[in-house]
Amino acid sequence: MAEFVIAIDGPAGSGKSSVSKEAARRLGFGYLDTGAGYRALALHGLNHPELTIEELLESFDYSISLDPDAAKVTLGEQDVTAEIRTERTASAVSQIAREPAVRAMQLLDARNRISACDKPGIVVEGRDITTVVAPDASLRILLTAQEAVRLARRGLENSESAENLKARDASDSKVVEFMTAAEGVYLVDTTDLDFESSVAEVLRLVEVVKHG
Ligand code: C5P
Repeated sequence: MAEFVIAIDGPAGSGKSSVSKEAARRLGFGYLDTGAGYRALALHGLNHPELTIEELLESFDYSISLDPDAAKVTLGEQDVTAEIRTERTASAVSQIAREPAVRAMQLLDARNRISACDKPGIVVEGRDITTVVAPDASLRILLTAQEAVRLARRGLENSESAENLKARDASDSKVVEFMTAAEGVYLVDTTDLDFESSVAEVLRLVEVVKHG
C-alpha cells in the first residue's frame, strides 16, 4: 500500500500527465494514469460494438503498469498502449465516462491499484481523483492552464483536433468538476510555468504538506 498519495486533476493539455509522471520518477513513487482506464474501456467498446455497457464491463480485462518509466496498458493479451491515444479512442471516451456504472467500476479499480502499489507513494492523475477517488490523499492538486496554452502545448491550434479536445473538456466537466479547486486542493496554474517549474511546484507542495 502506497502511504503517500498525491492526487492530481486537471483538463487535457494542462501538463498533468507529463508533470505527474516526472514527479513520480523523482520521488521514487508509482504513477497511475486513470484516464488510461477510461480510454481502454472506450477502445474495448469500439472493438465490440455489439456489447452493452454491462457486458463491456464484465468482459473488461485491463492492466496498467504503475512504473512511471514504463507505461504499458493491455486489454487481454493485447498491448494497447499506443492505440488508446488515438483520436478515434479519444472521441469515444467522454460518452462512456458519463455512465454511472463505468465510473463506479473505474473508482474501485483505481482504489485497488493504489492499495496494491508497493512503492512508498503514488501519483494518481485524472479528473475526479482529488474529489472522488482519493479525497483523503496526502496532497491534492488541481493543475490548470489557459485554454490557448493547453491547445498550443498539444500543437493543436486551429485544427479539428482542437475542436475535439474542447468538446471533450466541455463534456467531461458536466460529469465531474475539475476546472475549480475543491476545498483543501492546491491550485497550480501552469499557464506561465514551463515543465521544470511545474514539476518543481509539485515537489515544493510535497515538502509543504510533509513539513508544514
Ligand atoms: O486524462 P485523459 O485525457 O487520458 O482522460 C481520458 C478521458 O477519460 C477524459 O476525457 C474523461 O472523459 C475520462 N476520465 C474521467 N475521469 C478520470 C480520468 C479520465 O472521466 N479520473
